[in-house]
Amino acid sequence: MVYLTRKEHFNAAHKLYCNHWTPEKNDAVFGKCANKNWHGHNYELYVTVKGEPNSETGFIMNVKDLSLIIDTHICEVLDHKNLNEDIDWGYPMQPSTENVAIWIWNTLEKHIKDCQLHCVKLQETDKIWVEYFGK
Ligand code: NI
Repeated sequence: MVYLTRKEHFNAAHKLYCNHWTPEKNDAVFGKCANKNWHGHNYELYVTVKGEPNSETGFIMNVKDLSLIIDTHICEVLDHKNLNEDIDWGYPMQPSTENVAIWIWNTLEKHIKDCQLHCVKLQETDKIWVEYFGK
């Protein structure tokens, strides 16, 4: 089994908060991410697929195709958006890095045909990232 990773990038704004909590509790739980007038992150997205190399191409998946899928379905949708206000996730969702990574996985999985999705790694800062490997 070979693992192939494509790195992409998007910028987005968000705010983490619960409406039914007090401002003090939101600040205590979410820290700077609870800032009421939003803030941005420069997200780095690493998408890893796995499979066996094709006997002719030597590829497990054409990385151009992988890049196009990520661009079309993730970066074009999320880049320069407010993750609380602009995105229809399909369900109510706190736009934490964890939840966005799960949504990215669920969105990409439908479009990856020749091999398997292995990991979605979403990096929010140099020091914090999440990895999701499916359920
Ligand atoms: Ni944040």
